[in-house]
Amino acid sequence: MHEVKEVGTAELKYADKTYSYPVFEGSEGERAIRMGSLRQDTGLINYDPGYGNTGSCISDITFIDGEKGILRYRGYPIDVLANDCTFIEVAYLLVHGHLPNQSQLTHFSRLLNRKSLIHEDMRNFFKNYPEDAHPMAILSAMVVSLSSFYRELNMSVEEEIDLTVARLLSKIRTLAALSYKQSIGAPHVYPSSKLTYVENFLNMMFYTPVANYEIDPITVRALNKLLILHADHEQNCSTSAVRLVGSSGANLYASISAGICALWGPLHGGANQAVIEMLEQIHREGMTIDTCIARAKDKDDPFRLMGFGHRVYKSYDPRAKIAKKACEDVLNTLGIKDELLDIAVQLEERALSDEYFVERKLYPNVDFYTGITLRAMGIPTNMFTVIFAIGRLPGWIAHWLEQRDDKDQRIGRPRQIYTGPVKREIVPIEDRPE
Ligand code: SDX
Repeated sequence: MHEVKEVGTAELKYADKTYSYPVFEGSEGERAIRMGSLRQDTGLINYDPGYGNTGSCISDITFIDGEKGILRYRGYPIDVLANDCTFIEVAYLLVHGHLPNQSQLTHFSRLLNRKSLIHEDMRNFFKNYPEDAHPMAILSAMVVSLSSFYRELNMSVEEEIDLTVARLLSKIRTLAALSYKQSIGAPHVYPSSKLTYVENFLNMMFYTPVANYEIDPITVRALNKLLILHADHEQNCSTSAVRLVGSSGANLYASISAGICALWGPLHGGANQAVIEMLEQIHREGMTIDTCIARAKDKDDPFRLMGFGHRVYKSYDPRAKIAKKACEDVLNTLGIKDELLDIAVQLEERALSDEYFVERKLYPNVDFYTGITLRAMGIPTNMFTVIFAIGRLPGWIAHWLEQRDDKDQRIGRPRQIYTGPVKREIVPIEDRPE
C-alpha cells in the first residue's frame, strides 16, 4: 500500500538560504515534492487556491492521466470495467482492492439484499418534506440519520466494515427511490430479494400496484454502466470533502453525507442536471448553436456550456465517450428520438472546433451526455445528481477507509494568508461616527 520511490530533491532558494526537499514518485510516474516542513524551515506557506497543484494524499485507488484521457480503478481501465462488469463488482473492487471471485460476489450480493430495507421509523421522515424538496437535500439528511439508527460500529473489525459498507451501498438506493415516490405522492415500494442491485432500484422507482412495470434489461445494463462511470475519480471535490470530514474522526455516515452535499453543486455533480436544463433552455428558446457558443465565451454572460471543461482532463473525458455511446445505444434500442441529444452533439462539434474551447482544452466531461440517457430511462431531472451519488458512493467509502488506515494522515487543516484589519482598539458606541 502507498509504495513511493524517492527520486531526488528539489531546492528552494529564499532569503539567502537554500532549502532542499525530497521528491518522490508514484507507480504511474507522477512526482511530488514533500514539503511538510516548509513553514517550519522558511516561515512560508504554499498558496494554491482550489488545490490545483497540491496533493492531499497518496492513494492506491484511482489513477487519472488528464492529458492522455486515462482513467483506471485499481489498475483496470474504465472502458473495460464499464463493458465487462456490473456496478456491484466495481463497488467491491474499489472498496476491497480486487475484483470479487464468485463466492465473494454471491456473499456481497446477499449482504446487500439483506441490508436493503430502512428502519420503518425513517420512512416517516419522508412524509414531512415539501413535495418539491430537492432529493439531494433529502438524501444527505437521510444518510447522516442512518448513524442514529445503526449504532457506532467498530470500524476496525473487517466484518463490521463489510456490514457498514453493504448497509450504506444498499440503503442509499432505497432512500433515493423513496424520495422520488414521496415527491409524486405515490406509494413507497419495498426492495425485493429476487432482484439485482440495479433492477431493485428501477423497480422501487417505477413499479406501481396499478401498472405492470417491466424491468427492461437494456435499461439495467445502461444504468450499471453509468453507475460504474461515476464510481470514483480520485481527489475530486466531493471525495476530498469526505476525506476532510473523515479526518476529524467523524463517522462514515456523516462523512458521506458531506460528500453528497459537495456533489450537489452545479460545478460538480449537479452539472448533469444543469446540462439538461441548459439543453431544454436552448430548445425552448430556439437558441442557435452559434448563439450558445458565443454566450458561453462571453465573460459578462452567466450562460456556461455545462458539461464542458474539467480541472484534470485537458483532453476528452474517457467517461464522456462511453456515456455518449451508451446514450445513443439506449435511445436507438428504446426507439426514442430526443432533440436534446441532437443539440448536444451539435454543441460538441461546434465547441471542439472553436479556438476559445480548443485553447482552454475544454472537452465534454462525464456530465454532458449522462442526463439524456437518464431522461430516456424516465428518471426525473432533479434525480440525476442522486444517481451520480449512488454511483460515487463506493469511491467515497474506499477513500474514507484508505485515509483512516493511512499513517501519513492527520486532521485536515489548511493555512491561510490574513489580509484583514491589523490590531485596533474598540471605540465606545457613543463615539462611533453615524
Ligand atoms: C465533475 O474533479 C472531478 O473529477 C469532477 C468529476 C468527478 O467525477 O468527480 O469529474 C465530476 O464535476 C465534472 C465537471 C462538471 N462541471 C461542469 O460541467 C460545469 C461546467 N464546467 C466548469 O464550470 C469548469 O470547467 C469546471 C468547474 C469543471 C473546472 O473549473 P476550473 O478547473 O476551475 O477551470 P476554470 O473555471 O478556471 O476555467 C478555465 C477557463 C476559464 O476561462 P479564462 O478565465 O481562462 O478566460 O475555461 C473557461 C473559464 O471561464 N471555462 C469555460 C467552461 N469551463 C471553463 N467556459 C465556458 N464554459 C465552460 N463550461
